[in-house]
Amino acid sequence: MKYFFNDLNAYEKAKLKSKNNPNEFWGGLAKTFVWQKTWDKVLEYNFKSADVKWFLGGKLNITENCLDRHLKYQPKKTAIIFEPNDVNESSIHISYEDLHSKVCKVANMLKANGATKGDRICLYMPMIPELAIAVLACARIGAIHSVVFGGFSASALSARINDAQCKILITADGGFRGSKITPLKLIADKALENCPSIKRNIVYKRTNKKINWNNIDVWWHEELEKVDDNCDAEIMDSEDPLFILYTSGSTGEPKGMVHTCGGYMVYTAYSFQNVFQYQKKDVYWCTADIGWITGHSYIVYGPLLVGATTVIYEGVPSYPDYGRFWKICNKHKVNQFYTAPTAIRTLQKQSLKYVEKYDLSYLKVLGSVGEPINEEAWRWYDKYIGNHKCPIVDTWWQTETGGILISSLAGITKQKPTYATLPMPGIEAVLLDDYGNEINGEAKGVLAIKAPWPSIARTIWGNHERYKSIYFSKYPGYYFPGDGALRDDRGNFRITGRVDDVVIVSGHNLGTAPIENIINKHPKVVESAVVGFPHNIKGSALCVFVIANTLVDENRLANELSALVSKTIGPIAKPDRLLVVNGLPKTRSGKIMRRILRKLIDGKDQEIGDVSTLLNPNTIIEIKDKLQIRAVNLG
Ligand code: WTA
Repeated sequence: MKYFFNDLNAYEKAKLKSKNNPNEFWGGLAKTFVWQKTWDKVLEYNFKSADVKWFLGGKLNITENCLDRHLKYQPKKTAIIFEPNDVNESSIHISYEDLHSKVCKVANMLKANGATKGDRICLYMPMIPELAIAVLACARIGAIHSVVFGGFSASALSARINDAQCKILITADGGFRGSKITPLKLIADKALENCPSIKRNIVYKRTNKKINWNNIDVWWHEELEKVDDNCDAEIMDSEDPLFILYTSGSTGEPKGMVHTCGGYMVYTAYSFQNVFQYQKKDVYWCTADIGWITGHSYIVYGPLLVGATTVIYEGVPSYPDYGRFWKICNKHKVNQFYTAPTAIRTLQKQSLKYVEKYDLSYLKVLGSVGEPINEEAWRWYDKYIGNHKCPIVDTWWQTETGGILISSLAGITKQKPTYATLPMPGIEAVLLDDYGNEINGEAKGVLAIKAPWPSIARTIWGNHERYKSIYFSKYPGYYFPGDGALRDDRGNFRITGRVDDVVIVSGHNLGTAPIENIINKHPKVVESAVVGFPHNIKGSALCVFVIANTLVDENRLANELSALVSKTIGPIAKPDRLLVVNGLPKTRSGKIMRRILRKLIDGKDQEIGDVSTLLNPNTIIEIKDKLQIRAVNLG
């Protein structure tokens, strides 16, 4: 790939070119893909009306780029390695040739079941290769996929199906997840009671457990027998929607972010190749679920677009024990490993014997995504997993951005612990003050992006006004991602967290993430969350929720943490309350729901709303009880 910067010189040149001549830069990059018709114009946009179009008039099908074009020179190369939940079930290698054939067959099956271009198809499946195959099959025929994470509840699923008016659902009888089985079909049946738009439910047999059967249900394997594997790729306009993916907002209904064919293809391949520095024979593994954007862009599309070998893993990091990730890295000789800080922190608290048992010498690059990575987790990842020889790419991006916007390029640009570092060539990231003025040099502010990049979401499905208002209205002329950031004197960005996670204590702005970082350094702390609550003198004060790794004396721990924070940041950052809990409310992707903690500590339990989509809604009951009996007051 011409746009593969494998040294600093190439990177600097690209940076310059992207600034001086963005159309030539992006157009040149797009030319490295297969198009059925070249575009007439590279870019047209208006941030005021929130309209962005890339590669206008271009015609393509992303699956020809993910599959067909690799058949010429690497048909036998492994595209997907599937590692099942059960260690006794063998892993599966699917070559590019086989993947092509499977995708075409499933595409024909979808057509035979009534799917046509532009229809929405909902995928509610376990982390098995068939999920990736179904995603690609939709893209093959121009149907718009909407993957809903297999851990969501029936009401969350039906809300998403109804919002997009999906015509077909693809699910499975169930999915394996650690020692448990997720009864996907049962949940889907419940959801479908309220989803009149669904005309067909295609069921993949995974667990072989007994399920109910309804008249819209058909078996995946039976339907496949009826079709062959010849399926021409549908010709798509560059700006035709490729998929919808829902992301939760800080308020209101989930937002169905819409990504389109051309731009998304160009940017995911470009960012994957450059950030991870993928080389031809490497094995790459991203531990995310395909139900999240990370899975879409960096398990399926990005890696397949560049002809990589990508691992799909069905289980959880703690099953059958906490060595599972490292065992898989060892088994498949993984070269690039991409995970989330929450996983790193969990694994870091376990005995090192789980790491030391395995040969991790094949690892070349480590990645982190989803939230700011605290320094302690970064150091542990670097030392015990990377053996100080693997660059760590801390990749900042969002469902809305489609691909990584800020990150170091492994081994090419400099890393800096807890910093996502520099924007990718072509990305104009800036810092704004509260009034929307750009600030220069070393500074702190809100992050904003000044010009569009190819994989920016084009709209919120069915609600362009909402899209415009959330991302383009607060700071006119910019895309506003909702994150705060610091910039050092070399231009490195450190994402400090959502701007709504800032607490003003006695007139001082305090990011809760840095305080958590310090608290997490305490040897007895597994994880913590710091939130603000109303305080009659300070305006707001801080409450820290802590998960401890042993039984602790809460008063003593509170004092120790208070001293630690005071010492590191200053007395102003000292928390006023401390609560030791067994769990923190988290989203399915592992993010702590600080919003819920804020409501709980503020006594506004009735405003919490629907918690059924949380990973662990029971934590709320525990926290409520504990807040009444024994939060330690330090104030
Ligand atoms: C946060 C996940 C700090 C950020 C790809 C963003 C991060 C939100 C990082 C998007 C990072 C993601 N450092 N914060 N490296 N990566 N975030 O849509 O607040 O699930 O706005 O996309 O996660 O989450 P989403």
